[in-house]
Parts: sequence; C-alpha cells; structure tokens
Amino acid sequence: MTKTAHLSKENEIAFIALSNAPMNALSQGVRAGLRKGVEQALSDNTIKAIVIHGDGKVFSAGADISEFHLPAVEPHLPDVCDLIEQSEKPVIAAIHGFALGGAFEIALSTHFRIATKEASVGLPEVHLGLLPGSAGTQRTPRLVGVKSAIDIMTTGKPVNAEKALAIGAIDEIVDDLKSGAIAFAKKVIEDATPLKRVSKSEERVENNSENLEVIGQERAKWKKNSPHLDAPQKIIDCVEQAVLLDYAGGMNFEQKTFQGLMDSDQSKSLIHAFFAERKSNKIPELERGAKPRPISKLGVIGGGTMGSGITIAALNSGLPVTMVERDQESLERGIENVKKVYRRDVEKGRLSQEKADKILSNYSTSTHLKDLSDKDMIIEAVFEELEVKKSVFSQLNDIAKEGAVLASNTSYLDIDKIASATDRVGDVIGLHFFSPANIMRLLEIVVPTNVKDDVVATGFQLAKILKKVPVRAGNCDGFIGNRVLENYAKAANYMMEDGTSPYDIDKAIVEFGYPMGPFQMFDLAGGDIGWADRKRKAAFRSNEERYVSIADRICEKGWFGQKTGRGYYKYTPGARRGEEDPEVLSIIQEERKVKGIEARSLSSDEIRRRYFAAMVNEGAKVLEEKMALRPSDIDVTKLFGYGFPRHMGGPMRYADVYGIENILNDLKEFEKEDPYFWKPAELIVKLVEEGKDFNSLN
Ligand code: NAI
Repeated sequence: MTKTAHLSKENEIAFIALSNAPMNALSQGVRAGLRKGVEQALSDNTIKAIVIHGDGKVFSAGADISEFHLPAVEPHLPDVCDLIEQSEKPVIAAIHGFALGGAFEIALSTHFRIATKEASVGLPEVHLGLLPGSAGTQRTPRLVGVKSAIDIMTTGKPVNAEKALAIGAIDEIVDDLKSGAIAFAKKVIEDATPLKRVSKSEERVENNSENLEVIGQERAKWKKNSPHLDAPQKIIDCVEQAVLLDYAGGMNFEQKTFQGLMDSDQSKSLIHAFFAERKSNKIPELERGAKPRPISKLGVIGGGTMGSGITIAALNSGLPVTMVERDQESLERGIENVKKVYRRDVEKGRLSQEKADKILSNYSTSTHLKDLSDKDMIIEAVFEELEVKKSVFSQLNDIAKEGAVLASNTSYLDIDKIASATDRVGDVIGLHFFSPANIMRLLEIVVPTNVKDDVVATGFQLAKILKKVPVRAGNCDGFIGNRVLENYAKAANYMMEDGTSPYDIDKAIVEFGYPMGPFQMFDLAGGDIGWADRKRKAAFRSNEERYVSIADRICEKGWFGQKTGRGYYKYTPGARRGEEDPEVLSIIQEERKVKGIEARSLSSDEIRRRYFAAMVNEGAKVLEEKMALRPSDIDVTKLFGYGFPRHMGGPMRYADVYGIENILNDLKEFEKEDPYFWKPAELIVKLVEEGKDFNSLN
C-alpha cells in the first residue's frame, strides 16, 4: 500500500483522497501527494473546485508520530496548508470518521468544511505535550473564537459534528459525504461564494478586553488544575499572540513555541508513554504465533470489590457474565455491588435505563461453581488466601469445560501454587485487575511456569475486549506493580519513622504530579490489606530487613483508612480528603522513642530522591529477573495502575531523564544508612558502567 494522496476528477470537481490505511496518517508520502494533487487541480482549467477527503473509514488521524523521531522532511504540513488556503479555487474538506490534529489543521486551511453526522474533529496534540503546529493555534481562534479554540486545543477532546457546526468549526452536516460534497461544491461555484481565508489579516481575532479576559481566566484555570503541564499554557500563549499580533507574527510565535515543546523532556515523556502503551502488547507468545482461545462466556468467582468490578468491566464490553458467590447472603451483596454502579450511572444521566437493562440482561448469578461449567474463561476473585484459592481451583478442575482458561486475580500469591491444585496447569494464568476494576485500565497478565502460549494470548485478547492496557508480568511476589510499590512504600515508612511526617511525604509526592501520596493511597486502599500481607510475610522476613511497625499500630486500633473514617488521616463522613491527625503523629513519635531514633525531617526534594530511587531500584531488579519484558512495561504498569504522572513518562523513563548515574549515586549515599534495603540493583551498576540508559533496553 503506498502512503500517498491521489487525485480523481468528477466533471468540474477534483477529489483528493488522503490514502494511508488504516488512519490516513499524514506521513511524508501523504503530504507530498496532497501537495501534488492541489497543484494539479490548480493548473487544470476544467477544475472549478477541490474536495479533500479520506480513503477508508476516516478523514485522517493526523501526524504520523513514528516520524517524530526522524529529521523533518519536506513538504512540511504548514506549507501544504498555506498552499491550500491560497488556492484561487474553492477547497472543501469533506470529513467522515474523524479529522484530528494535523488533519484538522488541513481542514482549517481549506475554505469550507462539511462533515457527516457521526464525524468528529479535534486537536489532540496536547496529549503528547505539544501544540497544533501547522497554524492550528492561529487559525482555530480566527474561526471559532478564543474560548472554543482554547477548549479544543487544551483539552484535546474531539468535538462532534453537531457541536462543531454550532461553534462554526464546520459549515454543514451532510447525510452522504460524496453527494453532499458535490452539492456543496456546485453551490459554492454557482454562487461564487467568497473564499474565507482564515489567516488573512482582515480575519484577525479581535484584540478586546473580553478576549484577553478569557485568556487570563483559562491560564489561571490550567495553572491551578494542572500545574505541571506545559503544553496547555503554551497553547494559551499562542492564542494570546493570535489576538495581539497579525497572522505572520502569530505563526512565527507558534513555530518557535512548538519547537520548544518538541525539544522538552515533558513532551518526550508523553510520547514515550504513548508508545509504551502500544508496545506492551508485543509478547513472545504472540510472536511465536499463539492464537487466543474464543471468549464468549465469562465466569467470575467472588462478588466483592474486585469480583463486582471485573463483572461490570466485562458486562460493559458486551460479555455475558455469571458471578458465583459462596452463599446467598454474600451473593446478594455482590449483586448490589454490581447493580448500584448502573443505578448511579442512570441517576447521573450517564446511561439510559434502557441501556442499563440491556447490559444487565447479560448478567446471571449463582451460589454453585457448577454453573460455570460452560464458561470459556473463569476469573477467581475470592479472599487473598492461598488455601481458599486452591480449594476453588481444585473444584474448578472438576467442573470447568475442557480448554477453559482458569484465571486468578490474586494480588501477590504464587500462581504456580494455585495452578498446582488442578491437573491442567497449562490453562491457569494470573489476571491482576486494579481497583475499581471497571475503571482502572491496567491489567497485569501474570505468566506462571507451565501456562500454554494460547492461554497467555487469551489473556491479552480479554484485555483488548475490555479495553484494558495489558502488561505481561512474571510470577513473583506482587508481580510488577505491587512488588515495586512495596519497595517505595517501605522507603516512605522509613522516612516517616526517621522523622518526616507522613503528611509532608504525601505533599512532596503530590507536588511531583501524583493525584495522591502514599499514605493517602494506603487509606484509600484499606490498611487491612497490607496488614494481612505483612503478617503473611512475617515468617519469611530477613533479620537484616528494617521493619516499621507504625502501620500495624494504626491497624490495631481498627483504623483501616477511609472505610473506617480513620487511618493516617481523619475523615469526616462523606469526605474523600482527610485531615491530619495529631494522634497518628503521637503513635509515630512513640515508635521512634521505642527504637531510640532521633527525628530528622527531610525536605521535599530529599523525600522524592529516596522515594524514586527505591521505585527505580526495584524496577531494575524486576528487569534483571526478567519479571518484566522491558522497562517501558514497568512504566505502563505505574502509569495505568498507580497514578504515576503521565507527563513524567513512568519511573524508568524518569530515571533516564534524572540520569541513571544520579540514581546510582543516590542509592550509594542511602546505602551507607541501610545497606540491606538500598543495595543498588546490578542492572543499574551495569548500565552506568556501559554508559547506557533504561531506554536502550526498550
Ligand atoms: P473482597 O473481600 O471484597 O471480596 C472477596 C469475595 O469473595 C467476598 O465477597 C467473598 O464472599 C467471596 N468468596 C470468598 N470465598 C469464596 C468462595 N469459595 N466462593 C465464592 N466466593 C467466595 O475482596 P477483594 O478486594 O475483592 O479481593 C479479591 C481478590 O482480588 C483478592 O485475591 C485480592 O488480593 C485481589 N485484589 C484486590 C484488589 C483490591 O484493591 N481490593 C486489587 C487487585 C486484586
């Protein structure tokens, strides 16, 4: 398939189709084809109007981001857009599917835009830390006004045809794209409609107090809500220049600002996150040719927090689910857990009653495992106790049909041990969802020793069906996500015991860009879960390991966090944000006294140095032990399951930007205090010796 754009003629109208399946990405060939098509149409005297459209399902998804790493090649999109706008013959963009990013910038440079009802347009560059750099920041406000332009560009959200028409981003909605485009073109030719060239100076955005006020408000809003993000501020700066300067001045500013963002670590990290998400699907099992088994009926065991969330995620994707609980009372609780989510969605107007009823018609329940005998896949989400899980799997061994995939949602337990309760170890896998499972996008797919390739492929297929982001993880304690979490949680506990308040630690982590700090997260997840895990591991804990008992003291009081109204913070009923608790600070002080620790409080920077050194060090060990396929999979895990700020790209990408040698130096410094905990991972030492970074392993 050639990546290009091709010209065809129908009487006096030239059609130029962007043609680069599946999304008509604007790679060099497409840009060159478009330029050539426009030039040919302009020099052909029989042609009176030009229609630009997309082959296949969409107009175009915009820039070919695989070209971002390469030196820019001609023709550049802003030049092609200028050529289109300067055309003496009317140019019409005919949009179906979507026109995003650079593609919408092409449409903005045409004189007229029409779209089908289901089409949408948008400028999503902000998600990659960029701005629309083909005059989008200058043409959009000239076309739709300052407020709408800022909205479209700073949120990056697509705008549907109806709204696009209302704000003036398109001129007409048509039923059929081709006949609609022909009719529109004929009318423009017949009426000799003046051509609206958005960049012409007479189309200047008005420099009035109203526009400047909107700009001021938007700037303040973004600063308050997303203080870490550069691109929205830069977009607003560009719109301001569209108000203050003429088009040429504005364009000059846009180009400089765009280049600045392209060169920034923030944009590179966001682009890294974008590619990391796509790469996590590349696994050896699929490369060896494994094909997923069919999944048309799902069984879920357990209707608690996770079982109900997994059920909802599956139902929302159209999969029929049978949920099994251990007795009638627990089942009723489980049913309520599922139904209340739909009830709330209907109440809030997010879902119609009819749609909710339709989704729930796929939901059945039982208190008997034997009702799962016809399921293609069964996901267990019962209590986190090995014996309970083994008992469930041993029953499934007798009940499940041949070829059924048997999955456990365990957070930490050894999947090999769970599989050993069956005589079909090849069919057993870990599918670790995150809470709330109907919302969180991460799905760790845990690959035990004897699992068959097609079962792993089926796990990845399920992720696709549920629109989750899958990461292949090895079968170690806590897999990737919880294992790494445990290490930086320990670092946070050490800092707390050594004299830094948990509230200061949370603040330092929130300042970094996390939605919450570690102690706020413990309170949200429930202190009892970690407590049970610590008790389970107590017998195996090395004598060399430093153990902090503060969390145990808090749990002993029955303070499990938000659900009990008290944890590290105090919660007034209904509040999600807690207040600092002097009693917690006294508990900490007591523990410090018992251990004879002299309090030493750390600055925000020192807190972050330790927190991320612990995170990266454990990530490196996960890689060393081949529990993750590549550093970017650890990034994906932390981005989609643990709130790592996307603009920092994930912990391993962060380490590359911070400097892997600096991480090593930090670890060596902390190692002097606690050689057991802070021992640098061999991989980090090796990478520094070789002058390489984590990205070299991606
Ligand atoms: P939960 O306590 O809310 O729910 C467990 C449910 O399993 C209960 O409703 C219980 O009645 C049911 N159950 C127990 N034994 C059963 C049996 N033999 N047959 C049928 N049902 C049975 O626990 P939660 O939080 O949903 O956790 C479930 C699993 O998911 C655990 O392995 C946990 O480690 C894991 N997990 C938990 C996460 C969380 O944030 N809560 C996150 C990811 C995994």
